[in-house]
Amino acid sequence: RQQPVIAIDGPAGAGKSTLAAHLARRFGFLNLETGAMYRALAYKAIDSDLDLDDEVQLLALTPHTTIALEPTREGNRVLLDGRDVSRRIRDADVTAAASRLSVHPRVRVWMVAQQRALGIQGGVVMEGRDIGTAVFPDAEVKIFLDADPNVRGTRRFRQVAPDQHEVAPVTEAAVLAEMRARDDRDRNRAESPLKPAPDAILLDSTSMSLDEVLARSEEIVRAHL
Ligand code: C5P
Repeated sequence: RQQPVIAIDGPAGAGKSTLAAHLARRFGFLNLETGAMYRALAYKAIDSDLDLDDEVQLLALTPHTTIALEPTREGNRVLLDGRDVSRRIRDADVTAAASRLSVHPRVRVWMVAQQRALGIQGGVVMEGRDIGTAVFPDAEVKIFLDADPNVRGTRRFRQVAPDQHEVAPVTEAAVLAEMRARDDRDRNRAESPLKPAPDAILLDSTSMSLDEVLARSEEIVRAHL
């Protein structure tokens, strides 16, 4: 490929999406949020009343499922079988379902195949948990973005929209607990668990400002262009 694949991995709430969107804009690359694909399939599974622990049931969905990611300024518009599910897939029930669905090895094989097809030409910033380890082990740039769990929890809590609080008030402790549960599941699953690729550059944003993270990452990408 003539243009690079930039892989951004890390736990929930580290700031991967913001970073990926920024780098994509800066370098004119396509931004692909792979978490949105797991969320979209999880939404379809919920909507079809499937058992999220039943890999065979989940896998049976895939032959007649299409998930498309379209670029927008803020992130990806997500089309599930042609229908815009961008907002719905951010709800708490889908978030929890995506975390459970993503442990299944054969579901991951299907996802990884889709993601490779999307990124194979290069010129993409792909963000997720296993991009540098499983989807594009040969990515030209790999960044593993991490931060202290408490800091990630606080950032996540502040992102919860006020209107969401009105529907169902959430506490910071609850946000932190939910995030930790998802991280644990990602780190401990058998198939492509969340971990830095051996050749990933580790960025710990615990005591970095957003601008510092963006500037440092831009440097890293430039050094590889
Ligand atoms: O990144 P996001 O929070 O949207 O991802 C939703 C869920 O999808 C994560 O909790 C994780 O379990 C799963 N995921 C994954 N591999 C990826 C991206 C997301 O397992 N590459």
